[in-house]
Amino acid sequence: MRVKNLFWPAQCVLITGASSGIGKALAEHLVAQGAKVGLIARRQAALEQILADLSAPPNQVAYACADVTDQDALAKAVQQLEQQLGSCTVMIANAGIYHKTDVLHFDAAVQNAVFATNVQGVINTIAAVLPGMTLRKQGHLVAVSSIAAMIGLPAAGTYSASKAALVTLFQSLRVDLHPLGLKATVVAPGFVDTPIITDEERASVKDLLSAEQAAIRICTAIERDRAIDWFPWQTWLVCRLFSLLPSGLYRRLIAHVPEMEEANSNQ
Ligand SMILES: NC(=O)c1ccc[n+]([C@@H]2O[C@H](COP(=O)([O-])OP(=O)(O)OC[C@H]3O[C@@H](n4cnc5c(N)ncnc54)[C@H](OP(=O)(O)O)[C@@H]3O)[C@@H](O)[C@H]2O)c1
Repeated sequence: MRVKNLFWPAQCVLITGASSGIGKALAEHLVAQGAKVGLIARRQAALEQILADLSAPPNQVAYACADVTDQDALAKAVQQLEQQLGSCTVMIANAGIYHKTDVLHFDAAVQNAVFATNVQGVINTIAAVLPGMTLRKQGHLVAVSSIAAMIGLPAAGTYSASKAALVTLFQSLRVDLHPLGLKATVVAPGFVDTPIITDEERASVKDLLSAEQAAIRICTAIERDRAIDWFPWQTWLVCRLFSLLPSGLYRRLIAHVPEMEEANSNQ
């Protein structure tokens, strides 16, 4: 006999970056699990289409458009969704972008944009829900980092650093939030089949996960209140071994790993 999951029907989950990839898969999985879900991203047409496909009642699913780098706009979007769905109990800060770090054409605007979305965007997301969660003494903050946080990948320095910032930010938050009755989890996936990766990566990467597999894994980490979840283990193991190498050997061996390229969808 299958035991009904009682955890998700009691949750109101807000997800940033919900218009495609992992965020969209999270929304679909969580609606199927009975959670209330609020979707946040910039592209209204994409969010409307997801809402239509989900065909759930308006008191279960809603969307609001916001750019996570715009603190006021994001706070308004969260307020609007909470009015429609109820107080947020789980906030998944998933919005993120990837740009290469090209040392021969080092463009500060491009590199800063990665931090603005991947780090400041997460800080803005936390700021939008934390006062309410603190008052209610209930809430779970979740950030989507990456296995790229484990090691400084070649030509991906800013992306690796932005995702590493989330790991340490959430490690600290988990300690600071505990006395307030709040939780913090950071998840760190390897390659996931979403528009952020290139067709070449899609075809060549071993241990590529589907967005649905990643979503299920992330939801399990939240349910189990994991501090951090690196997955899949195969990619984690390779990165862990690289991280243990002396710096000279690391430099020589990591140079053979293909650089992560920018997909056309990146903005
Ligand atoms: N796919 C992978 O291999 C992989 C691996 C590890 C970690 N991750 C992380 O997983 C997260 C989701 O990425 P994905 O793979 O699902 O890629 P994706 O399909 O490109 O999704 C990225 C999402 O972020 C949103 N977004 C980007 N910039 C935004 C901004 N300024 N404000 C609001 N929303 C913004 C996009 O929506 P709009 O364009 O509509 O705003 C989109 O919904 C990212 O943080 C990524 O770094 C991905």
